[in-house]
Amino acid sequence: CDMSLEDAKRIAAYKAVDEYIKDGMVIGVGSGSTVVYAVDRIAERTKNENLKLQCIPTSFQARQLIVKHKLNLSDLEICPAIDVCIDGADEVDKNMTLIKGGGGCLLQEKIVASCANKMIIIADYTKNSRQLGDQYKKGIPIEVVPMAYAPIKHQIERQFGGELGLRMAIAKAGPVVTDNGNFILDWKNYKQDYDWAEINKSITLIPGVVETGLFVGMAKKVYFGLADGSVKEQV
Ligand code: A5P
Repeated sequence: CDMSLEDAKRIAAYKAVDEYIKDGMVIGVGSGSTVVYAVDRIAERTKNENLKLQCIPTSFQARQLIVKHKLNLSDLEICPAIDVCIDGADEVDKNMTLIKGGGGCLLQEKIVASCANKMIIIADYTKNSRQLGDQYKKGIPIEVVPMAYAPIKHQIERQFGGELGLRMAIAKAGPVVTDNGNFILDWKNYKQDYDWAEINKSITLIPGVVETGLFVGMAKKVYFGLADGSVKEQV
């Protein structure tokens, strides 16, 4: 494991938690490897400062992190209004449009972020991009209902170009099944200068599409941990 990359994730996560998390808040807990550091810091501060927080998970992984650290686990039925959601991203462009869902948790991540007053992104320097697709080569994830994956693939390829691949599991023969029982199509070799708000709308309207990993106009601030140990902020 690359030490400096892990350090970059940690310093971004710690700074975001220290600047945004306050006593009494309802917080959204994102998914991925950078969020692990954010939850470490939240747990440390909860203990030291006796914070009273409610935590809403965005995935099975996030739920486990909350439980492991003995933080207060809640949900959107009990706490429908979230103060701050802290999450990672696979790529962040110059307009703060994000690709998320590398870990397959895009649907719950988008639901929780949409309920949050502020969505704060934490990432290492490799996620910082001018245009979507410059850095992240695994494609834009699209969560779909299993029976519709083939028609959705063909429609998007026909309408917008590029190629969509069904994400396959590693430790099992067959497709990745999300926390919500759906499949994921990864859209690669797309045109990079799209109007992402429009594309997101058009794709979401295709029957069987549950959600896309395009987060447009949702992030309020991004903390990038840099290789030199500093943190760059994008607003
Ligand atoms: C999970 O589905 C993703 O959206 C993650 O938030 C994203 O992949 C970032 O993960 P890392 O912090 O591990 O890079």
